[in-house]
Amino acid sequence: MSNLASLVQQGKFFRFDWALGDYQLLGILEQIFEGGLEEIHLRWDTNFGDLTVFNDQLTDLHARYYARQEDAFLDEYYHFAVDVLEPLFEEPVLLQARPTFRIHVPGNLAVAEFHKDEDYGHSPKEINFFLPFTDATDTCTIWYLNGDGQHTPLNTPLGQFWVWSGSTIPHGNKSNMTNKCRVSIDFRVLLESDYDPSNAGQSVTMRKNMVIGDYWVRLSDLKT
Ligand SMILES: [Fe+2]
Repeated sequence: MSNLASLVQQGKFFRFDWALGDYQLLGILEQIFEGGLEEIHLRWDTNFGDLTVFNDQLTDLHARYYARQEDAFLDEYYHFAVDVLEPLFEEPVLLQARPTFRIHVPGNLAVAEFHKDEDYGHSPKEINFFLPFTDATDTCTIWYLNGDGQHTPLNTPLGQFWVWSGSTIPHGNKSNMTNKCRVSIDFRVLLESDYDPSNAGQSVTMRKNMVIGDYWVRLSDLKT
């Protein structure tokens, strides 16, 4: 069993640096949103009202992203995954085929409620990645419930990402009290040895069956 996977499954958190300049991910998002990501709310209508678990992926800005992520952004996400993620594991892994996009605008939430992903049918063995394209700190990042029952921010400077267990650790957002947007992706990795298609449900946000070829892709199949 992969050491990192084992430690994450025990509830540990790990933060890694990544070479932002080696990938086009940030630049592609800036093209989609026509400028700096922290100021999206100054260029686009972000008056979404109170988001709920049923509509927090359905804003006009999410539609704009999802309509345009298919080619260039996904290619670069896979490039990043092969370079950066695969070396973290000592055995074959599955990758969430399409990352989940989050935009957390001032005065609102990015995810509607505190929850564990396990409550929505995810395997407790999943390994979560949180990768922002803006500085994500204080009220504009994910918060999780630590072992003492305290809400704790997953502070993430641009150029870093976290690996942790979102299936088993309660997490959510605060209302963003900063004057900047947070833009991020999150996605999951699963050891192939932990994959159980007989137990696969459907994801809430992506409406994908959690099987290889739909929700999951084999990371080894992404190498060209
Ligand atoms: Fe979650």
